[in-house]
Amino acid sequence: MTIVWKSRWNTGLEAIDRQHHSIAEHINKLGAAIPSAKTAQPESHDHDADEYAHYAFLFQSLSTGEFSYVLEDLIVCLETHFDFEENLHQQTHYQLSDSHKETHDVFLSRIKKYKERFAAGEDVAEKLHRILTKWIEHHIQYDMDYAATVKQLPPSVIAEMISVENANVKVGFVRSFALFAKVLTKK
Ligand SMILES: [Fe+2]
Ligand SMILES: [Fe+2]
Repeated sequence: MTIVWKSRWNTGLEAIDRQHHSIAEHINKLGAAIPSAKTAQPESHDHDADEYAHYAFLFQSLSTGEFSYVLEDLIVCLETHFDFEENLHQQTHYQLSDSHKETHDVFLSRIKKYKERFAAGEDVAEKLHRILTKWIEHHIQYDMDYAATVKQLPPSVIAEMISVENANVKVGFVRSFALFAKVLTKK
């Protein structure tokens, strides 16, 4: 299932909305990289069974690698986004910051466990993608509460906080880029 952005998901905080968009795009990319979706039989049926098995194996390993890479990147994106939100909560003395952080931590460790299971060869890609697709809507609805708190502040204060936090997001992107470079040098 592809995530289609809904206008009711806009929190009114541009930086947050941009990050949520990016997370949704990553989840869609992950859906497109689900290994089973890439192992469709080749169009030509001229080759014999051995040859088909060889290509099936090749497609499988290529797509498994792609799924792993997109998943790694998504996890970096989630960690960066959660840090961004939690720092905003601290700066605004958001009352539910502890319980909100707990939902982030629990979800992240759940996703990391799925990542380990996938890496160990378990067929969990589709299930993981389904969980993420459902999760994003809940996550954004939950964020609406602190977004309302932040939006009560003067625009100049919000702008200053967002610019500090945007610098932190860049650190996250650098991490993501470093990860990409690592994957490339492994090839
Ligand atoms: Fe969020
Ligand atoms: Fe959140």
